[in-house]
Amino acid sequence: MTKATAVGVVGCGYWGPLLVRNFKGLPNCELKGLCDTNEDRLKHLRTLYPELEAVTDYSAFLNGANLDAVVIATPVKHHFPLAKACLMAGKHTFIEKPMASSSAECEELIDIAKRKGLVLMIDHTFLYSSPVRKIAEIIDAGDLGDIRYINSRRLNLGLFQKDINVAWDLAPHDISIILHILGEFPVSINCQGNAHVTPRVEDVTNMSLMFRNGRFATIQSSWLEPRKVREMTIVGTRRMIVYDDLQTHEKIRVYDVRVERPPHYDTFAEFHYSYHYGDSYIPHIQQEEPLKVACLHFLDCINKGREPLTSGESGLEMVRILEAASESLRKNGAPVNFAPRTSAADEESDHKLHVVQAAAR
Ligand SMILES: NC(=O)c1ccc[n+]([C@@H]2O[C@H](COP(=O)([O-])OP(=O)(O)OC[C@H]3O[C@@H](n4cnc5c(N)ncnc54)[C@H](O)[C@@H]3O)[C@@H](O)[C@H]2O)c1
Repeated sequence: MTKATAVGVVGCGYWGPLLVRNFKGLPNCELKGLCDTNEDRLKHLRTLYPELEAVTDYSAFLNGANLDAVVIATPVKHHFPLAKACLMAGKHTFIEKPMASSSAECEELIDIAKRKGLVLMIDHTFLYSSPVRKIAEIIDAGDLGDIRYINSRRLNLGLFQKDINVAWDLAPHDISIILHILGEFPVSINCQGNAHVTPRVEDVTNMSLMFRNGRFATIQSSWLEPRKVREMTIVGTRRMIVYDDLQTHEKIRVYDVRVERPPHYDTFAEFHYSYHYGDSYIPHIQQEEPLKVACLHFLDCINKGREPLTSGESGLEMVRILEAASESLRKNGAPVNFAPRTSAADEESDHKLHVVQAAAR
């Protein structure tokens, strides 16, 4: 029996309490402390978890409760200073998406974690979700043929963030899923958008990721829509998938439809598209909370000394894609080239994407 990992959570706003609930319920984990600069939030958390130490002072939190690991769920601009102090204090660190405000900050955190031999995990939650694992399984089995394009929409009357725009807030979910199922990085990124409510903070964006061989993905993100939409369409040469994350049970539907051009024709009269309509089906999906799977994975990596599937490196590449999207926004949607940091990192990250696919199944 391994020693229970002592965990503390910093940031107890909207998302932090979900992490608190999950870590609290996991075996081999002792949730010990909470930290938030807002005393009202701590007062609320104390009513739910009176046994936990809950403080506003981060250094008292880091040095007080003898923590092995810290979970950071604050606004993004605080991720870097909090994570750096945490790693410097020798704690394994779990950071909410996106990892930090810049790629330079991500690189520094990766470097400290490596030097100190600590686990650094980024919460790209959807890679731990059953529907995404099922979609990857269907695609890996070749059921869709070659993927032609992916279209993703994540819209609602959203929780406006002050320090990041809607692309940094919502698109990491779509980007992580898209990279995971395509198993490669984009070669260029375009992004257009507009700030309607808070000056200079875009609340609606349209992003395109171009991949090799003409494949592409589009991601629409909005905090300004009357209806909540969480939908992704994956179009393959043989079949297509619609993934609706708002459905309780039937989240994935596989459509046996395709359009083909005749391979040979002599006259225009002979030319006609061939439409194939087959059966659609709804695969069975195991019901489990993705965040719980992510929290379990973090503890497992600490206990086994393993690198997480969503490591600091994957957090860095995500932030680099978001930086490219911001650059494109500043250039009114002009394409911005993207290459993984180094060819070694490319191979390593490519490899990791496949490890994610293999290990998550
Ligand atoms: N993985 C997901 O699906 C998912 C979903 C929602 C949010 N998130 C991420 O979770 C993080 C938090 O988002 P949120 O919506 O809960 O934000 P929030 O604003 O609701 O909560 C943040 C909390 O952090 C506290 N805080 C701010 N600065 C602090 C500091 N220096 N030290 C301690 N506490 C501090 C605030 O008082 C607040 O209670 C963000 O990184 C966000 O992107 C992830």
